Formats: sequence, structure tokens, C-alpha cells
Amino acid sequence: MKRIYLSPPHLDGRERELLLQAYDSNWITTLGPHVDAFEEEMCRKIGMKHAVALGSGTAALHLALLMLGIGRGDLVLCSDLTFAASANVIRYCGAEPVFIDSDRSTWNMDSGLLEEELDACAKKGKLPRVAIVVDIYGQCADYDPIVKTCAKYGIPIVEDAAEALGATYRGTYAGRFGAMGIFSFNGNKIITTSGGGMLVSDNVKYIEQARFLSTQARDPAPHYQHSHIGYNYRLSNLLAAIGRGQLARLDEKVAKKRSINEYYRNSLGDLSGIEFMPEAPYGTSNCWLTVILIAPEKFGSDRETVRLALEAEDIESRPIWKPMHLQPVFKDCRIRGGSVSENLFERGLCLPSGTQMTEGDLERVTKVIRDCYKP
Ligand SMILES: Cc1ncc(COP(=O)(O)O)c(C=O)c1O
Repeated sequence: MKRIYLSPPHLDGRERELLLQAYDSNWITTLGPHVDAFEEEMCRKIGMKHAVALGSGTAALHLALLMLGIGRGDLVLCSDLTFAASANVIRYCGAEPVFIDSDRSTWNMDSGLLEEELDACAKKGKLPRVAIVVDIYGQCADYDPIVKTCAKYGIPIVEDAAEALGATYRGTYAGRFGAMGIFSFNGNKIITTSGGGMLVSDNVKYIEQARFLSTQARDPAPHYQHSHIGYNYRLSNLLAAIGRGQLARLDEKVAKKRSINEYYRNSLGDLSGIEFMPEAPYGTSNCWLTVILIAPEKFGSDRETVRLALEAEDIESRPIWKPMHLQPVFKDCRIRGGSVSENLFERGLCLPSGTQMTEGDLERVTKVIRDCYKP
């Protein structure tokens, strides 16, 4: 029996043809027609005006902070329940992360805690400069109150939609709720370029400047001249070709991820002690990963027992992101709240959610989980 991975790449469209086109044209570097087309097609898909394709989602986040002038000593708010990349970039800029706990009903940044933190900062006379708001596991944060609170204090939002391409909030695509949004195309994301990312914005200045910095900040001169520190962050034309093939199939991928989520809900929903990540009524999740919470006192086995039982059957699953305030590297940073994300971390397990999964694969996964049920 083959190993079932968490969320492996799934190349099922014109990727091969487009990749060979790029190869045969000799445009295999970080510029080229597929890069331009990938950026345009992404803008069209999500309804954003401008985009720059980059080597990773992390690079996109880093450039977003640089565009907003973040530097040494600045405070930057960040969702607590996320992958380390969301917070690492704050440190790249020499700034100080302040983490905001999750709302239990969406698992995303709690807008009430965000307001409390900003009110407290205002009283102390030092406001954060930016808020990095993450759309976790493919579900948008609750942007109406978040945008309102940030606007009250004049704080721009960077939307970390690395996991949420194709998700919507009140009918608008993820990635459009901040001054800038970012996506990741690493190997486990809903679409992949093997590794890659994109920075999007309606503000052309941000995107032009980010493009400039991403190509080593070379001044317009015939010789190599640099007035700024630049980065080598661009996406290759070969990888952009793969991305175009993937993006064209995004709707099918979202539909498949959602059907996987529905399968798990139907076949595990009756077990006491299992709870699914809630889908908020304000939008549609892309269900990048299906995530469950296991309450051992009711289910009879804990999260780690279930994970190891799956592993013994050659099935990959993962504990949910360890909150940033529990990470040794961020242990001295401020956290507003923290108990919600801690509790989710203790009990949360991400189930295999690859878009190539068959009904047989899903049966294999659910059988192992049902066998761990000892109420
Ligand atoms: C929430 C979140 N932010 C940022 C990233 C970073 O993206 P990348 O791996 O493309 O650098 C990821 C994924 O890896 C992510 O899940």
C-alpha cells in the first residue's frame, strides 16, 4: 500500500506542457513571459491590481514589511497560531513581534484581543506599525472588525494568505484585505510551483518597489550600481510556468479539498471527542487541510496516539502549528491571550488532505482513527 502524505503536489493540468514551453524557449531564468503571465493571471483570479512573483511566501512577507518601512525597534502584531515564517520576517527587519491569540470560533486572530492590545499600546504611547493577519488552514480571518480596529489606529494590515488561495470572505478572495497580501506556492500548498510565492496589492508603488528590491535593487544604469540593499527573491520562469498550470485548476482543487473535508465530517462526525475546525459563516474556506481536535477524555485516545497509529499505517498527519508564543525563539515576546491557541495545539491534528486522494485513501485514514476510538 502506498504512503498517504499530508498534502503533496498534484500536477494535473497543463504544467508539463507550459514547463517544456519555457525550457524550449530558453527563458529559464528569473524573468520571462511565464512570470509576467502568472502575475497577470493571479491578479485576474483574485481581483487584485498588481502582483510580483517571488521565490517564496516568506520573501513576499519580508518585502511587505520593508515596503511599510519596518525597522529596528518597531512593534509588529502577528497572529499567534501560524507557521513560523509569519513571525520570522518581523525579526528579519529587526522589529519586535507581539502575538495575538486566536478566536475559538474561527481559529484566526481574535479581533477583541487585537482591540485590547491596540488600546493598551495607545495608552502606553507606542503603537505597533503593522499587523500581520494570517488566514489559517485556508479560512479567512474575520476582516470586518479587524480592518475597522486597525484603521482606527492607522495600522496597515499585511494579509498572510499563504494557505488560503481561493478562500473567500463575504464574497471577496483571500489576499485582498490588507495594504498587501501574500501567497505561498511551496510543495504542500493548494497550488504549488515546487517553491514560490507572490506579493499582491492594489497599490502599484508597493509592487514596483518590491520588484526592484527582489532583483538586487539595481539602479537604472548601464553598469552595476546600487543605492539600496537588495535581495535575490524572484521566481524563475520555469516555476512560473508550473504555477500557471496549477492556477488554472484552482477552482477544482478547492472543490476537491472541500469534498475531502466533507468526507471526514461525514465519516468521523459521530465520534464523541472529535471536533472539526469550524467553518465561519462569513466565507468559504479552501479547506487546505482538514483539521480535527481530539478530546482524549471522550475519545479514549489522545492526539499523539492517533498520529502514531496513522504513521504505523504509513499515513502522514501532523499536530497543528505550535503557537508562536510557545516557540523557544519567541519566548520573550509579548502575547495577548494565548490559552486558545495552546488548547488547539494540544488537541489538534491535521489530516491528509491531498487533492489526489481517492475514496479508498480516505477510508484507510478514517478506519485507523475509528480504531483508536475507545470511549
Ligand atoms: C501561514 C504561512 N505563512 C507563510 C508561509 C511561508 O511560505 P513559504 O514556505 O512559501 O516561504 C507559510 C508556508 O510555508 C505559511 O503556512
